[in-house]
Amino acid sequence: MRSPTGIEFAFTFNDVILLPGKAEIEPSDVDLTTRIGNIVLSVPILSSPMDTVTEEEMAIAMARMGGLGVLHRNCSIEEQVKMAKTVKRAESFIIRDVITVSPDDGVEEARRLMREYGISGLPVIVDGKLVGIVTRRDVHFAEGGGLRVRDIMTKDPITVGPDITPQEARKIMARYKVEKLPVVNDSGELIGLVTAKDVFYRESHPFAARDDEGRLRVGAAISPFDIDRAKTLAPYVDVLVTDVAHFHNENVLSATKRLISELDVPVIAGNIGTYEAAEEVISRLDVIGLRVGIGSGSICTTGEVTGVAAPTLYAVAKAYEAVRKHSADVAVIADGGIRGPAEAAKAFSMGADAVMLGYVLAGTKESPGSTMMVGGKMYKIYRGMGSPSARSRRFALDRYSKPSKDIAEGIEGLVPYRGDVTTVVDRFLAGLKASFGYVGASNIAEMKLKARIALISHAGMSEIAPHDVKPLERIFE
Ligand code: XMP
Repeated sequence: MRSPTGIEFAFTFNDVILLPGKAEIEPSDVDLTTRIGNIVLSVPILSSPMDTVTEEEMAIAMARMGGLGVLHRNCSIEEQVKMAKTVKRAESFIIRDVITVSPDDGVEEARRLMREYGISGLPVIVDGKLVGIVTRRDVHFAEGGGLRVRDIMTKDPITVGPDITPQEARKIMARYKVEKLPVVNDSGELIGLVTAKDVFYRESHPFAARDDEGRLRVGAAISPFDIDRAKTLAPYVDVLVTDVAHFHNENVLSATKRLISELDVPVIAGNIGTYEAAEEVISRLDVIGLRVGIGSGSICTTGEVTGVAAPTLYAVAKAYEAVRKHSADVAVIADGGIRGPAEAAKAFSMGADAVMLGYVLAGTKESPGSTMMVGGKMYKIYRGMGSPSARSRRFALDRYSKPSKDIAEGIEGLVPYRGDVTTVVDRFLAGLKASFGYVGASNIAEMKLKARIALISHAGMSEIAPHDVKPLERIFE
């Protein structure tokens, strides 16, 4: 029998506080940039792959802010691929699948294509080579029947080469007063199109998370046992994220190993909660990140139902210990139980490189589902992927191990509606930067090194929250 001294202390966010340290910077100077493999994020936040948190709208908003959305998998492969494609098309700098016309097409056909695809210009090609461009203005002023594209197009339009940068494109557009620049190769073949709208979007989101082609980054959840889904998604995503409640399982580990060997897209593995699990994953699998924390999620009932949990803060500390010991280039992603910047700051201090948020983002406009009014207040539905209602869609049943398939491991509930995700994330980041400021850390690496952490009693936790005064907002609730 194990001796009582062998009992570990699995500390949680509420067991500890960060002690203030000497600051040489102001909160506004804090840089929260992080890196997961070759994915650089100026905002160290990933949105949870849950069907009430991340679909295309959330993923686009997250990437525009500099974070990363991870698309849920509680849907068909086709639906998940469609979401990924929508994110990739949202702001591509060079559009690759260009809609074109031929000089012999009627003006009516050009008009129809513009209307159908909601676009305002069509390159005109013959045998793949660019011969002109026709814009909405051209078709607007084209009167009289029988006109063909060749009669109204601009011949020899201004073109650019494949190495064009957004800055150069902007200058050329300004100089020639054009809004579309066809991209051609050395043989004059059309290989893409740059539009003013896309250049403008890039400028209004300078910190967005983008791939090498300037498209927004996106991740997608998979099961290691669903190789079809992983292979179909791979061309459209920057990272695949395993979505398994207990990743430290031989079947799961070997299935993931097989999957990684057949794919050339990076993988984040999880969830895990112990040193041993982290050590085994990083020594057996080529992954860029670990999703850590079991049972801390706001909608989780795993700990309650099974008596097993690895609270996120404890799990982060253990995973980080293994990553450091093996000098592994593997990011630690704290997942579950983060209610606001305080928990996130504690996670960073213990070794996290990024946080994954469900609850914080579920109430925003960009999460799937509509708002509902209850007692004069607006809410949105938030549910665990192991909740009975999420399980009834059946696509993510293998998140949970086979024997427990009939056990619900999550709940469904309401969260207050919080408006735009940008406002919520901006507030979150402001709080996080304030924490870094108090600790005296100017970035995540310094937070891990400098933070002094102290245990706090339950009584102490209530002392550091507002006490004795009834907050006004509660009086008017
Ligand atoms: P928060 O606290 O941000 O947690 O709402 C989100 C994370 O919780 C995990 N998750 C679950 N865990 N049962 C669980 O035990 C569930 O039904 C469930 N659904 C999601 C997941 O890691 C998510 O990112």
